Amino acid sequence: MTINRRQFLKYSGIGGASVFMGGILAACGETTATGVSSSTPPGAVTPTGLAATTHQAQPLNYNDLNPKRLANFSRPLLLPGHNGLLGVLDAGSQPFEVTARPATLEIFKGKSTDLQAYQVTMNGKTVVNPIFRIKPGANFTAKVTNNLGEDTTIHWHGLKVDWRMDGHPSMPVKNGSSYTYNFTVQNRGGTYWYHPHAHKLTPKQAYMGLASFYIVDDEDNLQLSNRLDLKFGETDLPVVIQDKQFDTDGKLVYDSGPDTQFMGFYGDTITANLTPNAFLDVDTRFYRLRLLNGSNARNYRLAFVRSNGNQKLAYWLIGTDGGLLDKPYQVSEVFLSPGERIEVLLDLTNFVEGEIVALKSMPFDPMHQEMGMMGRSGLSNGSSMGGTNGMVGTGTQSTTNSMPTGQLGEGEEFFILKLNVKNKVSYTRAIPTTLSNLAALDTTRATIRPFVLSQSMMQSTQMMQWLINGKSYTMDDYPISVKKGNTEFWEFRNEAQSMPHPMHLHGFQFQVVERLNSPSQLQGLTTYDRGRLATDLGWKDTVLIWPGETVRVALNFTHNFEGAQTYVVHCHVLEHEASGMMLNYKVLEG
Ligand code: C2O
Ligand code: CU
Ligand code: CU
Repeated sequence: MTINRRQFLKYSGIGGASVFMGGILAACGETTATGVSSSTPPGAVTPTGLAATTHQAQPLNYNDLNPKRLANFSRPLLLPGHNGLLGVLDAGSQPFEVTARPATLEIFKGKSTDLQAYQVTMNGKTVVNPIFRIKPGANFTAKVTNNLGEDTTIHWHGLKVDWRMDGHPSMPVKNGSSYTYNFTVQNRGGTYWYHPHAHKLTPKQAYMGLASFYIVDDEDNLQLSNRLDLKFGETDLPVVIQDKQFDTDGKLVYDSGPDTQFMGFYGDTITANLTPNAFLDVDTRFYRLRLLNGSNARNYRLAFVRSNGNQKLAYWLIGTDGGLLDKPYQVSEVFLSPGERIEVLLDLTNFVEGEIVALKSMPFDPMHQEMGMMGRSGLSNGSSMGGTNGMVGTGTQSTTNSMPTGQLGEGEEFFILKLNVKNKVSYTRAIPTTLSNLAALDTTRATIRPFVLSQSMMQSTQMMQWLINGKSYTMDDYPISVKKGNTEFWEFRNEAQSMPHPMHLHGFQFQVVERLNSPSQLQGLTTYDRGRLATDLGWKDTVLIWPGETVRVALNFTHNFEGAQTYVVHCHVLEHEASGMMLNYKVLEG
């Protein structure tokens, strides 16, 4: 059996010992064998003693967090449960009251980490950063109260909703006030997510903890679960990957200075479900992982390796941003940029007890060839022009084990999650040959709309900034209008002197139809027709465009919302979005 809630508590550094201040609550309650939760009542002090037996003091020494050392991966991965952090809520059944508020989590023993989090208290239980699960056609209602002390909104990333429900930056929820988000789920089954989108505040609020999953379950997904005997929270696991930076007091560090705004924020500690250096005990069977890159700026080149020999494992890509693919595609590495999701099946049936499998990010050329950094001190080294060493925050000391904080360069190799094969089980299920129906959009009448990703020096500040079609975001400027019902090609062209930009748009999922001038490191991945990667073969809402590359996507603007719709298209490097790499677009009535 996989680890259950009781075992989890026993090992828990992040579970039983976790305390949210201000309504003080346990991050994880205890679940009995029948699945009924017996949570710590809100307001009670968390029984930290529960975790005392096996809990090890984890001093905040970077050597103990360094994600390059697999031996450091000794904290149990936080799993979704019935309550506490990442508690699961059946979302079609009733309206929710969600509070966005400051919170504290004991990630490191004896130290409290300040976060911002979403909290739902109902039926005597408290759920923090709930994972909403819902079916297509169901109605979702969340009254969101803002207690953050600053503006916020909730954006339902990937979901097709009326723009008034989309968390658009022009509709802020002011501190102390509430806003009710209400929509019918129109999306296919898939792994969507939610996070704030207030003007200029997205990067900091998402970094501080405001983000979680929104999972739509449809028939195809149900069939897959039955077929492979998958259970959500046990063998079907949502995992959000984020890079953070902690100071020696265990506090999150976020620096929003001009260099960060231009390059994006890169942390040196890799977390999975807010667990640094996480491990999970697994059985010899199939696992479905729903991987979300919830990082502000970091890209991952994801591979699974057998730790003895470091050899890469083939795994199955089964889903992208907008749900299941038509069939499983075998891959050994895929890039995952901020905002993107992939769903994978990992076949552990041939493993033996005691073996270790690690999810890691393989080395790659970050392609930070941005002109703006040339000759600037601190972040850039001279070799960043087209070289493989142009890593943010990387100095000469970056390859040692005792890196100072802030020194995990983009494109460096590191581990994300360790899987310990614990139990040999008999498991005879076979992977299905088909997963879902994916029809290509009819693009016979589609016209091409170009989007050029560039940079320029702001005269006022002498700072470099990123632009889309030569423009920076202005709240009341609507430079793009499309017609409801039309199909268009949106063509994202990234300049050669640039950095990778994960482009995302609100309102509609799209299909990647072509990649042109892709960098050579993509040729190491399996490619399909028209330069596409396996991750381009499904519905998408975010797509990574490398320097010099052109990516063409097809999208259809059919919707059933009332009146003109205003959405945004932006780079999902959150610092780029916040500093203006975003445009409004309108969908006009017929
Ligand atoms: Cu996940 Cu507008 O973003
Ligand atoms: Cu979005
Ligand atoms: Cu960008």
